[in-house]
Amino acid sequence: MDKYIIDGGKKLYGTVNLQGAKNSVLPLLAGSILTDKPVKIRRVPMISDVENMLRILIELGCKAERDGDCTMIDSANAVSHELPARLTKELRSSVFMLGSVLTRFRRAKIAYPGGCDIGLRPIDLHLKGLQRLGVKIVEENGFISCSADVLKGAEILLDFPSVGATENIILAAVKAEGRTLIRNAAKEPEIVDLQNFLNAMGAKVQGAGGSTIVIDGVKKLHGVEYEAMCDRIEAGTFLIAAATCGGEIETKGLNSENIAALLHKLSENGCKIYTKNDRIILSSTGRLKATDIVETMPFPGFPTDLQAQYSALCCTASGTSLVVENLFETRYKYAAQLKRMGADITVRGRTAVIRGVEKLRGASVTAEDLRGGAALVIAALKAEGKSTVLDLSYVDRGYSEFEHKLKKLGAQIKRVRV
Ligand code: EPZ
Repeated sequence: MDKYIIDGGKKLYGTVNLQGAKNSVLPLLAGSILTDKPVKIRRVPMISDVENMLRILIELGCKAERDGDCTMIDSANAVSHELPARLTKELRSSVFMLGSVLTRFRRAKIAYPGGCDIGLRPIDLHLKGLQRLGVKIVEENGFISCSADVLKGAEILLDFPSVGATENIILAAVKAEGRTLIRNAAKEPEIVDLQNFLNAMGAKVQGAGGSTIVIDGVKKLHGVEYEAMCDRIEAGTFLIAAATCGGEIETKGLNSENIAALLHKLSENGCKIYTKNDRIILSSTGRLKATDIVETMPFPGFPTDLQAQYSALCCTASGTSLVVENLFETRYKYAAQLKRMGADITVRGRTAVIRGVEKLRGASVTAEDLRGGAALVIAALKAEGKSTVLDLSYVDRGYSEFEHKLKKLGAQIKRVRV
């Protein structure tokens, strides 16, 4: 298990080269088995969630090769419809493989994905959507077995705009008979990326980014070479780090619309933000005003995946901030660790009250989930003195070359093997 040793108090300056979006590349990889022709995806980040997804594809019988940030998938010899439990347990979001495996094999089997570090993570909306398409579902002994002689288009209304359920239904509908409508669909930019990828393979998907998505089933999908979008959560993480520590950084390749809610908050905090096309420049004195309240919402609201990082910023902003996490039950595990650094943070249910303090003190802290781990790194970069951040397996799930990118911006951070 590795750890970071961080000497806090340095301002951050420079440009961040963004990785491909983890939450886009994962569904794209799932979609690669919708054709038996080769699929090439560019801008695939070197992160453990992607490694796990590739392992799952290989267990299904696919060939997967990486060449730098380009990944080639050849599923011509894919034979299995059973998703390996030891891997789907590691990668909860592999549940949207159901849709693509069903489209390919008309059958799919997956171990019931347990909850995870941030909450229960039920999949009832996924299963209800698949059933609307004619999928028969049997849940027994902790496994979900799906089968469908024919996948038929249907009208589906999601009780909640679930990202994964929207993606799963799209992947199951692209070769179904007839038209599928998804109402109250998730509007995240990663779904637009999936739509563009599938249409480049010959699918007929329209409306992604809005709340109604229309999919007209086609007979066949062909191979594709596609470049995934940049990771807006990685960009947001670095922008929050620079806002918190002070300095000036630039991100390139990301449309600022994809994180408009965060940029709005950061300018309320007193940051100077300049955006032009796919460039975002943020400068900060490092001494910020607290924002009164921030509530996580489905896109285009404030992203839940930036809630922990933003809470770290609030710890030294002057005034009191209220953070409300509306999407996941237990996304505040990092709070106890921030308190070890001197943060004044009180959590009640889905709400955190954060009173800004003059300074955070370096301490030894332990990550317990992906975005909480990023929040601890931000707090350690701000804190006075030395911190260690333990258990980097979490940040490794979603951030490639995290310490290298931070070092390039002037952070005093090193990774050591424990
Ligand atoms: C995706 O997870 C992302 N993961 C998450 O990012 C992100 O936090 C989340 O969307 C929300 O934006 C990937 O894309 C791989 P949801 P997902 O289904 O699809 C409830 C990260 O840090 N729900 O939109 O699992 C669920 O319990 C990760 O990169 C049901 O009730 O999110 C939650 O409260 C973490 N029933 C809410 O919806 C269902 O069938 C949002 O979940 C499905 C979801």
